[in-house]
Amino acid sequence: MKSIRKEEDEEYTLGKKLVVTTLKDIQLHLKVIILITTSFMVWFLFLLVFSPKRVSNSTRLFLSTPPIECKDNFSVYIYNLPSKYNFDLLRDCTSLNIYTDMCPHVTNNGLGSPLPQMGSSWFTTHQLIAELIFHARIQNHPCRTNDAHKSTLFYVPFYGGLHASSKFRELNYTTRDALAVQLVEYIHKQKWWKRNSGRDHFMAFGRTAWDFMRSDEVPDFGANKLLNMSPVKNMSVLLVERHPWEGHNQYGIPYPSYFHPSTSSEMVEWQNNMSYMDRIHLFSFVGAPRTGKKKVVTRDRVIKQCEESSNCLILKCGHGPSKCHNPIEVVKVMMRSNFCLQVLGDSYTRRSTFDSMLAGCIPVFFSNHTAYSQYQWFLPSDPTTYSVYIDLERNHNIKIEEELLKIPMDEVERKRRTVIELIPMFTYAHPNSTSYGFKDVVDVSLKSLSNHVSSLLRPTLLDLS
Ligand SMILES: *[C@@H]1O[C@H](CO)[C@@H](O)[C@H](O)[C@H]1NC(C)=O
Ligand SMILES: *[C@@H]1O[C@H](CO)[C@@H](O)[C@H](O)[C@H]1NC(C)=O
Ligand SMILES: *[C@@H]1O[C@H](CO)[C@@H](O)[C@H](O)[C@H]1NC(C)=O
Ligand SMILES: *[C@@H]1O[C@H](CO)[C@@H](O)[C@H](O)[C@H]1NC(C)=O
Ligand SMILES: *[C@@H]1O[C@H](CO)[C@@H](O)[C@H](O)[C@H]1NC(C)=O
Ligand SMILES: *[C@@H]1O[C@H](CO)[C@@H](O)[C@H](O)[C@H]1NC(C)=O
Repeated sequence: MKSIRKEEDEEYTLGKKLVVTTLKDIQLHLKVIILITTSFMVWFLFLLVFSPKRVSNSTRLFLSTPPIECKDNFSVYIYNLPSKYNFDLLRDCTSLNIYTDMCPHVTNNGLGSPLPQMGSSWFTTHQLIAELIFHARIQNHPCRTNDAHKSTLFYVPFYGGLHASSKFRELNYTTRDALAVQLVEYIHKQKWWKRNSGRDHFMAFGRTAWDFMRSDEVPDFGANKLLNMSPVKNMSVLLVERHPWEGHNQYGIPYPSYFHPSTSSEMVEWQNNMSYMDRIHLFSFVGAPRTGKKKVVTRDRVIKQCEESSNCLILKCGHGPSKCHNPIEVVKVMMRSNFCLQVLGDSYTRRSTFDSMLAGCIPVFFSNHTAYSQYQWFLPSDPTTYSVYIDLERNHNIKIEEELLKIPMDEVERKRRTVIELIPMFTYAHPNSTSYGFKDVVDVSLKSLSNHVSSLLRPTLLDLS
């Protein structure tokens, strides 16, 4: 299976083209500085020390208002890993990702910079940062326990996605894999691993499975071999995109969007607002064309159809400054559309699916693996209740506009209502809030994972009795 890399410079992440230029500038500066004068070096060190980009220790702090009582029948223990596996990585945030300066994105426990124009619970959250938010949420979760004896789930807070993306250009596989290999050795030597051979252990990553599934025979730009290591196969792994065929122990979790409310009243107000939006466009597409690549012909066809329809609004992401890098503009387009086209690009899934549903826009899928085979913990088992599927891959002549116009108004209303009801489940609640009053991504994940783990362990219990 050919590897798929999600290239963040092609999706509508935030202003990365500018950042890439800045990074190059910095590299150039570094050379000049080091080669020419030591006085420049002093200046550089001064900058480094006082640069706002450096992550202060405050990223380590998580608020601890007294957690509300755990109302579920599971508990989760967080491994106190050596900090090289998580917090230390954040210190080098400029080099965490070969495309983007991650420093603004790792602030606020991974929520990123505030977006006050949208309200106090909005942030410019990076699409591949879920592992940070996940960690912060579990730190503050009412079902967290410090007593490993009693715990039913064991969370291994490795920032493996951030680490992987910092090593994409590393040609030496031994070096590229080193930290992941050390982590696996460390974890499987632990006392608590042995109790159930790691079956009650899990990790959560903000990148796709393809980034961790290199098999040694196949040359590969980027990926490490973490998920192919045999101890890891005993664990559960949560990812924003699972491998549809080989990911037997992988579970899809939603990409983080921009809304991270602390209270259920904020959530309900947003849901109400989305129910009453005036949706003037039949459909819309936000994203970048992918010309020149064979696997993206469907995307090109979809874009062409959108451009040719007066009922379709397109927000194209090119290189350089574009409205499509602004979360406010993106959400605005989706708020005013009935249907949002979610055509696959570099990989099957898109953050845009969750942005559009947050805006009450019904997603239109062109592959079973963009959502249906990915997010089974979060989405209804009947896809027709909340989405539209168009098989453009097998039937090139389907007209998207005609298909969408065929759907009766009452069915559109019904689908939209379901989409809006689902919003809390794929929202990452603000990690500092313990009593937000709805079940968010992390609540749903832990509950589903717990049921799964207890079903895995049940036969063993029977054997013992
Ligand atoms: C959460 O609380 C901590 C500790 O009070 C604070 O440092 C941090 O900025 C807060 N995080 C956010 C995202 O508001
Ligand atoms: C890769 O790195 C390892 C460890 O640093 C080293 O032992 C090995 O010789 C390197 N391999 C190649 C092909 O350079
Ligand atoms: C993984 O589970 C199998 C049992 O299915 C066990 O034999 C094996 O030792 C476990 N691996 C590790 C590293 O614990
Ligand atoms: C909902 O709409 C009202 C009225 O337009 C506005 O004042 C409020 O800020 C909106 N709430 C949210 C959460 O967007
Ligand atoms: C997608 O899934 C549906 C339902 O399982 C199936 O009928 C259809 O053939 C699948 N499409 C593709 C392209 O695999
Ligand atoms: C929690 O309850 C569910 C049923 O509601 C059950 O399937 C599961 O096994 C229980 N989990 C644990 C850890 O006891």
